[in-house]
Amino acid sequence: MKILILNGPNLNMLGQREPEIYGFETLDKINSELIEFKNKENIDAELDFYQTNHEGEIVDKIQEANEIYDGIILNPAAYTHTSIAIADAIKAINIPVVEVHLSNIHSREDYRNISYSAKNTLAQIAGFSKNSYKLALLGLYEYLKNNE
Ligand code: DQA
Repeated sequence: MKILILNGPNLNMLGQREPEIYGFETLDKINSELIEFKNKENIDAELDFYQTNHEGEIVDKIQEANEIYDGIILNPAAYTHTSIAIADAIKAINIPVVEVHLSNIHSREDYRNISYSAKNTLAQIAGFSKNSYKLALLGLYEYLKNNE
């Protein structure tokens, strides 16, 4: 089983970007903790990681992933709230996507309460900081195992 962890704009700045909201850990640290979690939980999946600041590149990656991966864990970051292109790309593919957010987007500014992408995802996990990725991996893995 292969899972892509795809992160959108400004998440390369984690650690120094608004740490009171997003925490003090870098994206590399969050990713390496996710691998440790996968091993500890005996999750039999290969993880690949990709981060980009560009909307079109997220669309490209989602389309490409359809041929290569069994599922995607996606944090579209600010594009969550604006991108119909990303929402359409998720709808166009046959593999499940789980949307994650470090912060609880529903308890923040009004413009963050809307997710276009989540309309087409299997699930959304928001508000557990770096653990949002772990919960997404657990949920997606169980889903894929039961829907082989
Ligand atoms: C975010 C929430 C978004 O509203 C914001 O633009 C981000 C990060 C999160 O993980 O909490 O960049 O996706």
